[in-house]
Amino acid sequence: MHRVRYFGAGPGALPLEVIQKAGQDLPDWRNTGASIMETSHRSREYVQLHEASRSMFKHLMGMDENWEVLFLQGGATTQFAMLPMNFLGPYKGADYVLTGAWSNKAFNASRYFGPSRIAADTRENEIYTRIPAMSELDMDADATYCHLTTNNTIYGTQWKKLPETGKVPLVLDMSSDIMSRQLNLDDVGLIYASAQKNLGPAGVCVVAIRKEMLDRANSDLPEILSYRAHAAKSSLLNTPPTFNVYMMKLVLDWIESRGGVKAMERLASAKASLIYDIIDSSNGFYKCPVPESHRSKMNAVFSLPDEQMENELVAKAKADGFTGIRGHRSLGGLRVSMYNAVSLESIIELAAFLKDFAKRNG
Ligand SMILES: Cc1ncc(COP(=O)(O)O)c(C=O)c1O
Repeated sequence: MHRVRYFGAGPGALPLEVIQKAGQDLPDWRNTGASIMETSHRSREYVQLHEASRSMFKHLMGMDENWEVLFLQGGATTQFAMLPMNFLGPYKGADYVLTGAWSNKAFNASRYFGPSRIAADTRENEIYTRIPAMSELDMDADATYCHLTTNNTIYGTQWKKLPETGKVPLVLDMSSDIMSRQLNLDDVGLIYASAQKNLGPAGVCVVAIRKEMLDRANSDLPEILSYRAHAAKSSLLNTPPTFNVYMMKLVLDWIESRGGVKAMERLASAKASLIYDIIDSSNGFYKCPVPESHRSKMNAVFSLPDEQMENELVAKAKADGFTGIRGHRSLGGLRVSMYNAVSLESIIELAAFLKDFAKRNG
């Protein structure tokens, strides 16, 4: 078997054990004589899997019975629109904190549904390199919610501590750091996350809503776009992405078996330190534009002295079995994604490669 060390930003790496288990299960899932893809979403076996996945998600996130978990389609991008559609109105706006491309997209989508405001925007010289300080947030005490992106996949920044928003519930896009950090959920009303970084393959988006917030959702919506309608049907309103839910359950079980989110958080810190240490000790050969306390533990972005050198590095890395490290097309440079399924061993090997490359070319 030939496997590369994959550091792509999304779809991200999956645990090898999960891929192998899925391979074994595929022709005959749970002795049904059929694959999960050929199983009815109304069957006893699927409904059991569906409920077990919802429960495991809540268990790992430390969510109690006051939370509802939905498995939806259309990615986080659909949530950029569905969220405001469900909560805003002509006189009901939300606050958005802009820290990168994804939060801008979320904000732009929200403006179709209500008078949303920008509570802070850290863009400088066309790019984002930091998270705002609490003192920079201009929040509306009457906002329906306050939205932020916990980890900025493209710019490599991450909120280390959530802002205090008083009685305004926080809404978090956690697509690229879900299950990699423990969170105090006291002020959080809703979390959404596309699966394809830390939860499984692309095709399912998890939305977790505090029931108190769900009770305030608009009800005059087509069923398929209504959180209330999905929740009332235990997220089985229409055919769910059954294979993706199955894969996600395998990933959730894998996280649980490794010690849960607490263990993932420790691992993320260890991996991130290894990569940032190489960058910081390279005498300026590698440059990370993000100040230390704002750096993402999921996506490290950095550049080399010039583009040609970056191309050389990417080619040499590929030849050595390291892939997925080119930066986002809007930003250039390099990006190393260190999601949960990227092993410490992979990061140690990549760090050694980067160190060696800098020594030879610096
Ligand atoms: C933080 C964040 N939010 C939203 C998205 C969009 O997700 P999707 O492509 O599933 O719609 C991404 C994709 O990379 C992301 O990183």
